[in-house]
Amino acid sequence: MNLADRSLHAIWHPCTQMQRAAHSPPLAIQRGQGPWLFDDQGRRYFDANSSWWVNLFGHADARINAALRDQLDSLPHVMLAGCTHAPAVELAERLSAMTGGVLGHCFFGSDGASAVEIALKMSFHYWRNSERPAKQEFVCVRQGYHGETLGALAVTDVKVFRDAYDPLLLRAHQVMSPDARQAGPDESDADVALRAVQDLERLFEARHEHIASFILEPLVQGASGMVMHDPAYLRAVRALCDRYQIHLIADEIAVGCGRTGTFFAFEQAALPGDPPIWPDLVCLSKGITAGYLPLSLVLSRDFIYAAFLDDEVARGFLHSHSYSGNALACRAALAVLDRFEVDQVLQTNAQRALDLDRALAPLRKDPRIEHFRHLGMIWAFDVRESDAGVRFAERFHLAGRAHELLIRPIGRTVYLMPPYVLDDELSSWLAHEVIATLDDVLQQPLPDADRPFVPATA
Ligand SMILES: Cc1ncc(COP(=O)(O)O)c(C=O)c1O
Repeated sequence: MNLADRSLHAIWHPCTQMQRAAHSPPLAIQRGQGPWLFDDQGRRYFDANSSWWVNLFGHADARINAALRDQLDSLPHVMLAGCTHAPAVELAERLSAMTGGVLGHCFFGSDGASAVEIALKMSFHYWRNSERPAKQEFVCVRQGYHGETLGALAVTDVKVFRDAYDPLLLRAHQVMSPDARQAGPDESDADVALRAVQDLERLFEARHEHIASFILEPLVQGASGMVMHDPAYLRAVRALCDRYQIHLIADEIAVGCGRTGTFFAFEQAALPGDPPIWPDLVCLSKGITAGYLPLSLVLSRDFIYAAFLDDEVARGFLHSHSYSGNALACRAALAVLDRFEVDQVLQTNAQRALDLDRALAPLRKDPRIEHFRHLGMIWAFDVRESDAGVRFAERFHLAGRAHELLIRPIGRTVYLMPPYVLDDELSSWLAHEVIATLDDVLQQPLPDADRPFVPATA
């Protein structure tokens, strides 16, 4: 049996209908180098989605490898209750400094979903400690995604992940998404954002005495298809949260670490020249270790931290995970922050993005496509429903393999979130192969099993 078959026998793969997996067997990846993954047959694939949006600087990066080797020889891990270590302290200090000290404390988790759980619990417990125990409700955005654990799913609105578990979930309020694709003929993206803000305001007005926090993905709702919105939304939402005394939680798990063009997406909320504005809690994960090790964290404002200080143990935030603040993971994260400083990653990416944007330009006019969108190092477009056909994502993914692409559309949304290692040549190649894959998929006849059933006529 080859490795893919053994995998299908032994592993219950994530985010996969296993019955369907035989049609789309996993690639048996043997090694990675830069943006390339190599399978056990020696074929290469460009990691167009940065391995679920985590891999910032390519695979097996020499500098991150060196930092990890060094950490491995001194301290791989120690628990963070009753002990501390330099990588965790330095990481917390540096991230706080990147917010101008506004978010003064860092609480460590492991995966993204654990950071969301932490932020929700912190917010709830803050109000309880602040003698306002009625503030227990959470508000989230339609089409939002915050992870798969029960708390995170409760504030998620992606049917395919959520619906089966709905009876188990906390009831959260859902408000209109600021998704710019909803713009009417005479509406701008900012107008759509304004409509979404009005929806939120109506809810806050009615329920603010009971609402603990509002959670959102700033600028891009990732898992529902790289859905983008105008930064005016973030400004207005910050003001509403202030007015109604509701915590603002920014889930930057996907959009943080430079993905949208600034280190934190929320940095784009303030108008140019105005003082920066910040959420109350920020969740970070994925790219923070550049795809090496699981690490997540929640940055909190000091007033939230202060509300937990008490002689009584139970008024503290007693949440914990065994691997909280793992030293290897924190060291990888420090190597990532070093890269941002030394290589001026944000400035370099801004230049690199121009190349790929130019190379993808034909898609903007392609009649088979709608809503081409781009922000920072994210590109996405929707294939029109009339063109996409059934099982579009699977067909596109499989066709992409023949073009040396590892790419997984979401529904009929094709997106690119490449590692930050593009150059002009790679951008031209990537755009060419994406367009060629699209042509292949849309020109191929549908497989028999996927053809719509047409009843025979007499
Ligand atoms: C915005 C957002 N929040 C939370 C998560 C959950 O992160 P994890 O898969 O590491 O639990 C994700 C994962 O895609 C995400 O995109």
